[in-house]
Amino acid sequence: MRNILICGHINLETTLRVDQFPLDYFPVCYPFFGVRSTVAGVGYNITKALTTLGHQTRLLSLIGQDTVGQLVQHSLAADDLDTTGVLAAMPETCQSVILYDTDGRRQIHTDLKDVQSRPYPPDIFQQYLTWCDLAVLGNINFSRPFLAQAKHAGKPIATDVHAINDLDDDYNRDYMAAADILFMSHERLPCSPEEWVRKVQNRYGTAVLVIGLGADGALLAVKQDNFMERLPAVYTRPIVNTIGAGDALFAAFVHNYLQTGSPTTALQHALTFASYKIGAVGAAEGFLTAVELAELVNRNP
Ligand SMILES: Nc1ncnc2c1ncn2[C@@H]1O[C@H](COP(=O)(O)OP(=O)(O)OP(=O)(O)O)[C@@H](O)[C@H]1O
Ligand SMILES: [Mg+2]
Repeated sequence: MRNILICGHINLETTLRVDQFPLDYFPVCYPFFGVRSTVAGVGYNITKALTTLGHQTRLLSLIGQDTVGQLVQHSLAADDLDTTGVLAAMPETCQSVILYDTDGRRQIHTDLKDVQSRPYPPDIFQQYLTWCDLAVLGNINFSRPFLAQAKHAGKPIATDVHAINDLDDDYNRDYMAAADILFMSHERLPCSPEEWVRKVQNRYGTAVLVIGLGADGALLAVKQDNFMERLPAVYTRPIVNTIGAGDALFAAFVHNYLQTGSPTTALQHALTFASYKIGAVGAAEGFLTAVELAELVNRNP
């Protein structure tokens, strides 16, 4: 068990099951039990996954003073997550709507309200920083100043910049430059994932890099070993909704990497964890415990 500090986004996520993309126009639809609202967001998803996997976590985030914010606090408490770092500092809590079809494809509509212009108190971050073994710093604006703070304290940084297509991306450059463990998605890459890995390594010297390839699994690159290999996706149960797959892959990788120090083993476990997770509806649902994950990996080696 490790102490992991997570600074990241929280929102209220509403999932809507649809027949197919694109949507046909109907004035009214009745998807019985096809509409659900649960608390999610990168920070929440990763914190919940890592807690379920048995780690001590602290989540730092910003929510609203509205009823949705109260719902978030209630959900955190129900999940036994520490609420002291989640500050009701905005008028409104962020929300998202996720449409998903019968193949598990999803379309995300996210309303960030004014979170991107709000700072998180650096003294609270500093207080938790001394306690942690690893800082997970999501690519939301309020965690940006903490990249330097964590570096200065000598703490390893893990981050996910999600769908990216530019090495010099103004928004994500700081995160890519600071990360010891860096995740991203293949979805918008301008070249092959392998070519992209070389570019990222040359520019940022990234020690451990993982690119999520969706149904094709993930690509792992470890700079000091000059190692680069694709690992295929794993099948554990039918896919319901692929929302949050990348967060699950990330969390389980961090979990196993901290335990074993082996990036390959970590990615193998992460692929199993992600596969099981996408059998659930919400982004913060379907997480295995460490024991369940180990059993499932052993069953499908
Ligand atoms: N359609 C799918 N079929 C099988 N496995 C999938 C599928 N989508 C995702 N996965 C599993 O989940 C992992 C993470 O998904 P993915 O690569 O899409 O993450 P990402 O693009 O980085 O993030 P995001 O969650 O934003 O899509 C994949 O490596 C794979 O193991
Ligand atoms: Mg993806």
